[in-house]
Amino acid sequence: MSGRPGLASNAAPRRVATGAAPGKVILFGEHAAVYGRPALAAALGRGLGATVEADPDGPVLHLPAWGQTVRLRPGPDGRAGFESLPRAFAAALDAAGLHGPTARAIAVTLDGALPPSVGLGSSAAFAVSLLRALSAWAGAPLDDAALLDAAYSVEQVFHGTPSGVDHTVATLGGCLRFQRGAVPTFVRVPIGRPVPLVVAFAPRDTTGRDVVAGLRSRRDALPTVYERLFDAIGELTSAGEAALAAGDLPALGRLFDLNHEILRACGVSSAVNDELVALSRRHGALGAKLTGAGGGGAVIALVPGDPAPLLQAVGRAGHGAFATTLDDP
Ligand code: MEV
Repeated sequence: MSGRPGLASNAAPRRVATGAAPGKVILFGEHAAVYGRPALAAALGRGLGATVEADPDGPVLHLPAWGQTVRLRPGPDGRAGFESLPRAFAAALDAAGLHGPTARAIAVTLDGALPPSVGLGSSAAFAVSLLRALSAWAGAPLDDAALLDAAYSVEQVFHGTPSGVDHTVATLGGCLRFQRGAVPTFVRVPIGRPVPLVVAFAPRDTTGRDVVAGLRSRRDALPTVYERLFDAIGELTSAGEAALAAGDLPALGRLFDLNHEILRACGVSSAVNDELVALSRRHGALGAKLTGAGGGGAVIALVPGDPAPLLQAVGRAGHGAFATTLDDP
């Protein structure tokens, strides 16, 4: 007993609304997904969570893990690479139906263990967790279909015309086969046996958006050549889906290696991606590939044994890494 029981019972409860969403890894099919080929992607066990509360000085968005504070007016906030955040925040407020100064008198804190801008779906997790929290705060939580639409509009602020794979996995979770089209299709993919991964990552030399745009101009200059590369990636995605369902980890590893080599041919890998893939292969990986847009950023390695030697080697090379396991939810 505090001796002052009246204090606690008289205090108005602090009203908050929350929302969360996972990051993702693309197992097969990044870039080819933009050109209508299937991709296989899975939610990560780490992501972002958003908390909304009243703030008369709002709207303000705090991103402590990314060292950012975002207000909707131009100002000194925002490091290079994060310029889209105020527009994305504004798009999310609109999509959640929070219009006008009274509705927007809020502070949002968005935090989590997902590194930004390395191809692990941080912008999609940002969009989905933010929209979940904002729409709950507005008293009209978005269902999955509305969330997919709204998250796509926020993702467009960051990425132009993304395929949609990232925010679909962030919304629905699990492991999905995704295919872009007039109406995107996605189906749940069974995982026959847990898949032990090491995710290693380094800062990008560029943005994911620029990597996608660079490939677009190379593809437009030589469409038949690049379309064949995308076809090959599409076939690897189907083979990967079968290996995943069968729990055939050695086959999955070989397919990772092949997918990485085709991504190199597409010109989207970088020295640091190749370094992390080589390091993975030297430290017990059955296969490894870049994941996401490339140009730096993340690599996934299939490591069935102890991941510690690879995690330490990546750390010694000055990069980040964590171990995770993909399994049926
Ligand atoms: C980015 O996570 C995946 C890409 O295929 C782009 C996209 O699908 O929009 C590189």
